[in-house]
Amino acid sequence: MNDLRIAVLGVGLMGADHVARITSRISGAHVAVVNDYVAERAEQIAADIPGCRAVADPLDAIADPDVDAVLLATPGPTHEKQLLACLEHRKPVLCEKPLTTDVDTSLEVVRREAELGVRLIQVGFMRRFDHEYVALKSLIDSGDLGDPLLLHCVHRNPAVPDHFDSAMTVRDSLVHEVDVTRFLLDEEITSIQIVTPTPNPAARSGLFDPQIAILRTASGKHVDVELFVTTGVAYEVRTELVAEKGSAMIGLDVGLVRKSAPGTWGGEITPGFKERFGQAYDTEIQRWVDAVRTGANVDGPTSWDGYASTAVCEAGVQALQSGQSVAVTMVDRASIPGA
Ligand SMILES: NC(=O)c1ccc[n+]([C@@H]2O[C@H](COP(=O)([O-])OP(=O)(O)OC[C@H]3O[C@@H](n4cnc5c(N)ncnc54)[C@H](O)[C@@H]3O)[C@@H](O)[C@H]2O)c1
Repeated sequence: MNDLRIAVLGVGLMGADHVARITSRISGAHVAVVNDYVAERAEQIAADIPGCRAVADPLDAIADPDVDAVLLATPGPTHEKQLLACLEHRKPVLCEKPLTTDVDTSLEVVRREAELGVRLIQVGFMRRFDHEYVALKSLIDSGDLGDPLLLHCVHRNPAVPDHFDSAMTVRDSLVHEVDVTRFLLDEEITSIQIVTPTPNPAARSGLFDPQIAILRTASGKHVDVELFVTTGVAYEVRTELVAEKGSAMIGLDVGLVRKSAPGTWGGEITPGFKERFGQAYDTEIQRWVDAVRTGANVDGPTSWDGYASTAVCEAGVQALQSGQSVAVTMVDRASIPGA
């Protein structure tokens, strides 16, 4: 069977990492084409990969007859146009989150894919492929702990760039917990409130940090998320499930525990998301490649999952501004056959 020929669009932080991953660790695929708004960046990357070309126009890269599938790692605002081009050319696409940056365009993408009657889009919510989240999901589904009642989540970053504002905490950080909630509890989120306590003095003036998001699901389950992006410590992502018959926690970063003089013990916290979720990205891409290459069903997060997370984050940004609980507005999934 031939290798899957992938075009990677956007070779910044994530895209370059995915190119390296596909080239060195993923079997059955190679990067045939790269594209970036900064042409030299794409050319530099292509020069290091045998058989890879830089293509200047992203839409040409998608349409290229030597491209079987597309990996979108461009910024969110460009996703809609590039996703619709992938659908037009019937090319399977793994789109880094977010699906698109607003609810209307996300819904349009869901509708256009559903009209084709074929599943072409996977959204890059990689935590669904992380072995700890998979273990927690299996535990919930086993029923051993009874019904889930609560999730307590923590999402901490050591620092963020100067342009990072309070709404980005919702759209870029909370979005992952939104997807984790939907994945673990298997139901939609119906409302969101965001509490903004006294800011960390180290946070840039005007940045609400930390933030506490409170989510409520369709059946009334409670999820709280601490979002704190200027801790100055390291990358920490934890989820604790509280259920009828017990609780379970992931993300404790318990690797090597060292004991040494003078009477100290401890380990290391993962420095960033690439290290913490390296295994998840590898599994995500390998599963996608295997499914596309063999014609099997792509089983990762769908365009609907992308739409739902955009809808929750849009309500989240309103909640941040108002301080009130905001209802999440979504269309009825059954109204879009095939979605
Ligand atoms: N899953 C995750 O954990 C995760 C982590 C980080 C980023 N992301 C997502 O990945 C995407 C990329 O983020 P990043 O951090 O790599 O950003 P980045 O800014 O480092 O890289 C984006 C690249 O896209 C290029 N670009 C901009 N507009 C383009 C266009 N129209 N066509 C082609 N290339 C274009 C830029 O020149 C840049 O090289 C975003 O959607 C982001 O939300 C996901």
